[in-house]
Amino acid sequence: MMLRLLLFVLLVPSPALGLDNGLARTPPMGWLDWERFRCNTDCVNYPDTCIGEKLFKDMADEMSSGGYLEAGYEYVNIDDCWLAKERGPDGRLRADPDRFPSGIKGLADYVHSKGLKLGIYEDFGTKTCAGYPGSEYYLQMDAQTFADWGVDYLKLDGCYSDPHQYKDAYPAMSFWLNQTGVPILYSCSWPAYVVGAGDTPEYPLIAKYCNVWRNYGDIQDSWDSVSSIITFYGDDKGNFSDVAAPGSFNDPDMLIVGNFGLSRTQERVQMAMWCIMASPLIMSTDLRTINDESKALLLNKRAIAINQDALGVQGKRISKNGQVEVWTKPILPKGSFAFAFLNTASDGTPRTVSMKMADMGMTSANGYSVEEVFEGGRMMKLLPNDTMTAQVNPTGVFFGKATVM
Ligand SMILES: *[C@@H]1O[C@H](CO)[C@@H](O)[C@H](O)[C@H]1NC(C)=O
Ligand SMILES: *[C@@H]1O[C@H](CO)[C@@H](O)[C@H](O)[C@H]1NC(C)=O
Ligand SMILES: *[C@@H]1O[C@H](CO)[C@@H](O)[C@H](O)[C@H]1NC(C)=O
Repeated sequence: MMLRLLLFVLLVPSPALGLDNGLARTPPMGWLDWERFRCNTDCVNYPDTCIGEKLFKDMADEMSSGGYLEAGYEYVNIDDCWLAKERGPDGRLRADPDRFPSGIKGLADYVHSKGLKLGIYEDFGTKTCAGYPGSEYYLQMDAQTFADWGVDYLKLDGCYSDPHQYKDAYPAMSFWLNQTGVPILYSCSWPAYVVGAGDTPEYPLIAKYCNVWRNYGDIQDSWDSVSSIITFYGDDKGNFSDVAAPGSFNDPDMLIVGNFGLSRTQERVQMAMWCIMASPLIMSTDLRTINDESKALLLNKRAIAINQDALGVQGKRISKNGQVEVWTKPILPKGSFAFAFLNTASDGTPRTVSMKMADMGMTSANGYSVEEVFEGGRMMKLLPNDTMTAQVNPTGVFFGKATVM
């Protein structure tokens, strides 16, 4: 088994930078069921929220008619629990026939007819995390099956497998996806399991074979979860932020905006920070019932433009003073920055946060036109020696953009 995997790895062409399939030139945007809908397979009692084709068709409808596709959200992604418990007689994967009566091909056709793309989930191991058939020993066949169905995005998880195999396993699937001749965006859970095993991932290697990769635990519907992810990305152990570039991005997991666990202020923090971190913007909420304010936040054009900036640079935490953090992300036009003043404290009054522009790396003598991103509109001119000051709410953020003049 290992020898065969090794052989495949040797055959994989090694592009100088990220994976060379033309995809994810900016962080991918879309929707994924897992955080909000989990593994509810009871479509008799929960026909609207179970993991079945109705859920994905409903979301495709909302995405195409509700302005999401127009804003850039194009992938409708299926997570775990879509499979039948056994492979078919031909060895091929099959969707659960009761919950996906049109099959994945039928669902892909539907999603494509709306101008959207379809993503799917598998696992490198012998089983998926929820216990459905995994891809181990079937990588080539499964890659071809996904291509035949018209799948556009594959998330490959790592349950029921040995992280020591990943240096061979994840590149092998990358090779087989490439061999199908169909461009399929490849999302790897590779580093998340390496970190989980207490090792440091080799990020440049991962970026050669994957378009996006998870490197931290699953997001949950809470501020604790969102803030722990932001801390992991701020700590940036092993400098993984440096690997982000067009074609390859770190993935801190789904946007939970529109769900139950975050205040409106905290939802703004997640949106601002995911934009600053050049993260995939993959929503996981019920788009049929989302409240207007959360929807407007997900559709905020100025925020999305910073996430989708063509430089593809991941923002970094440049200072942490108690519970106040400053983050910056270089954007176009060259010399410009998005920035965030983040207040993680929950004691109850806004804090005044200040930093000299030059200390944020903004040293252009011509100065900067600065605006708040979410609301937009009010510009002010600041020179490198000027100080940027903002009031930041408890567990809140000031999301700014400084355009070089
Ligand atoms: C396969 O890899 C080659 C070489 O890196 C690349 O030029 C080609 O576009 C890839 N094809 C697909 C479908 O990913
Ligand atoms: C990460 O980057 C910092 C600053 O550029 C550097 O000092 C440090 O050695 C780097 N660490 C690793 C593990 O590459
Ligand atoms: C900025 O401040 C520094 C130190 O106070 C000073 O040397 C420099 O001349 C100032 N630059 C401008 C453009 O005012």
